[in-house]
Amino acid sequence: MEKKKEIVMSGIRPTGFLHLGNYFGAIRNYVKMQEEFECFFMVADLHSLTTHPDTKELKANVHRVLAENIACGLDPDKVAFYCQSHIHETAELYLYLNMMAYKGELEKTTTFKDKVRQNPENVNAGLLTYPVLQTADIILHRAKYVPVGKDQEQHLEMARTFANRFNHRYGDVFPEPQAFNYNQSLVKVPSLDGAGKMSKSENQMATLYLADNDDMIRKKVMKAKTDSGPTEKNTPKPDYIENIFLLMSLVCTPETIQRFEEDYNSCTIRYGDLKKQLAEDMVNFIAPIRNKVDAILQDEEGLKQIMQKGAEKANKSAAETMKQVRQAMGLNYF
Ligand code: TRP
Repeated sequence: MEKKKEIVMSGIRPTGFLHLGNYFGAIRNYVKMQEEFECFFMVADLHSLTTHPDTKELKANVHRVLAENIACGLDPDKVAFYCQSHIHETAELYLYLNMMAYKGELEKTTTFKDKVRQNPENVNAGLLTYPVLQTADIILHRAKYVPVGKDQEQHLEMARTFANRFNHRYGDVFPEPQAFNYNQSLVKVPSLDGAGKMSKSENQMATLYLADNDDMIRKKVMKAKTDSGPTEKNTPKPDYIENIFLLMSLVCTPETIQRFEEDYNSCTIRYGDLKKQLAEDMVNFIAPIRNKVDAILQDEEGLKQIMQKGAEKANKSAAETMKQVRQAMGLNYF
């Protein structure tokens, strides 16, 4: 008999415009997981309402997240790729879990405190219970693994707390969700200005987006920080040069990298040539993804079908869990 696959769940905020860091840091992880696990990947459109009550751009943002992830290799035939708002059981489980989540522990959450500071005039209850909604997303599918970055560790810890609290109070329904990543393959993609990683919020000229056009990619790469080159043979590289070689390792051939390594070690390197080569290899890497994204976005009917199919799979799993939840809670009166 075929072994039942373990369940993986993760949510992606519809903030649009993925960059190279998201690709090598997160999406590649998802694409690998879809082969080994039963995956539920969700666009967290409801979570975005906690900070962005204006929904004018929500639809376009949701479409973009779907298109970008699919263009990067996420396969809606292999995984359940769905929108949070299409799964109504999420709201029901969220309500039950809210009865077990204490104001004190929610107020202590780092992300809550950050958001209160950033936006003191909109401290709504949804913001406070953000981790409860996230818990509902995860345990609704009785997921065991949650591929997320470091910034989500506290939320995941709370998900474990709430799941255990439910089990303790009403009986064992939920496994304890754990963080998951393929450690070795998680690459931190450095930004082009030599400071930190590529990021949505910081220096946009130092971040390569999957939506950047060819000229923009070239322009950004050519502006990457370098210097006049080493003066002594075989000297260690300064950080910002290390970073450029790391970017090369993502998209250039081994021969190209070796050639520039040798030039560096013999002090004959010309950073202008290196950046031109890197820019062309980046264009060759990003352009096909960008074109795929555009094609997917053009096909609204296709997007609708993808969302429907995802919702169908997620709803099936949600219905099974909620039957157990209502039973465990004693809410089955007939
Ligand atoms: N809070 C997550 C983020 O900001 C998004 C998210 C929502 C999520 N629901 C989730 C992540 C469930 C993992 C599991 O990125």
